[in-house]
Amino acid sequence: MLDSVLEKNRSYLQNTDSEVYDALIGEEKRQKNGIELIPSENFAFPEVLALLGSAFTNKYSEGYPGRRYYGGQQFTDLIEELARERAKKIFRAEHANVQPLSGSPMNQAIYHAYLKPGDTVLGMELSHGGHLTHGAPVSHMGKIYNFIRYKTVIKKGGIIDWDEVEDLAYKHKPKILLCGHSSYPKDLNYKKFKEIADKIGALTMADVSHIGGWIATNHLNNPLDADFDFMTTTTHKSMRGPRGGLILSKKEHSKKIDSSIFPGLQGGPHMNQVAATAVTMKKIATDEFKNYAFDVLNNAKKLAKELLNEGFDLVTGGTENHLIVINTVNSVGLDGKIAEQMLDDFGITTNKQVVPDDPNPPLRPSGIRIGTPAVTTRGMGEKDMEKIAKWISVILKGKENFRSLSDLNNEIENFSKEFNLPGI
Ligand SMILES: Cc1ncc(COP(=O)(O)O)c(C=O)c1O
Repeated sequence: MLDSVLEKNRSYLQNTDSEVYDALIGEEKRQKNGIELIPSENFAFPEVLALLGSAFTNKYSEGYPGRRYYGGQQFTDLIEELARERAKKIFRAEHANVQPLSGSPMNQAIYHAYLKPGDTVLGMELSHGGHLTHGAPVSHMGKIYNFIRYKTVIKKGGIIDWDEVEDLAYKHKPKILLCGHSSYPKDLNYKKFKEIADKIGALTMADVSHIGGWIATNHLNNPLDADFDFMTTTTHKSMRGPRGGLILSKKEHSKKIDSSIFPGLQGGPHMNQVAATAVTMKKIATDEFKNYAFDVLNNAKKLAKELLNEGFDLVTGGTENHLIVINTVNSVGLDGKIAEQMLDDFGITTNKQVVPDDPNPPLRPSGIRIGTPAVTTRGMGEKDMEKIAKWISVILKGKENFRSLSDLNNEIENFSKEFNLPGI
């Protein structure tokens, strides 16, 4: 019966708009036949996909449970409460806001709540691992607020330069000390950030968008255990949830955060996404997800080891989380744009990536970024990481000349097709 509803919806789409329908089928095939190594991507839980295309899509729910600007909220109130309570429990947070439409608005909501234009934030330099929303000059946030940046020490295996963080903190007296990253392959010492922030009276914020799932399972450190004021995370990467954001904070910040999201920054929350977040919080609390998180991290270590054996230069020399940054210029004399394209041609999807203090521009950077969440979701394990490392090596070193290109293409496609694609 359920199958027939889904089938019916699909056949409406096919009849109404064959161009969009064909693109959907093409994308499904691409995902099924290829190896997805972009570290911020994953395959959403089937339950999440069911809710995203559900009746909750139709509902307007401006406000918060019990305080909405529209009627008919008996079920939306219920799911938002469930999402908030489950998120609080799993992350050991005093307060949760589950309405941010995605990662960018979730970070903006905190800045707008606690900063005035021109106020200072101390965050991680983009090329060393920080994110666009941590004040990159091209972002609106970078124009409104004064972002100062700390770096890592490349010679010491990419550890955070604590002396620099402390010096910059004393010099610039930031209102917020920000940590978190999108291309830094290490766990963070949140206690150390908190100690420095306390010395200058700064608020502490960790954007754990890439690693929220591994924090939920206690495989990586939780900033809230170090008494951070705010932790933000997207829900669609490591957690296999809907595209969206979560703000977790101390109770004392709850009013300011909630009103900064609504009515400050957003209108109606996407209740299909909030419902999917509720079920995601239930799924990531299971032993099954805990084992999955372990496998992701294990696969990343194995992939890094195999790439090192193949002679690749990895930023920080390896990984402590799910992601790996390869300096392709140092390794094989190719910039990240070319390396990304070459791998794409064989169905291996990665993304170009700046490396610390990259002399090259962001669209032609010196590396690529890869990660293991999506391949692990499909059931790949250590032996498969060996194969993937070999393929990356063969393709980027140009050794595919040894056999026909189509042989290698077929080998990768046949390998990928063997693995389940959840929900699709
Ligand atoms: C650390 C970090 N913060 C924020 C974001 C922004 O999330 P979104 O793309 O959902 O706006 C990302 C996304 O890549 C991220 O890696």
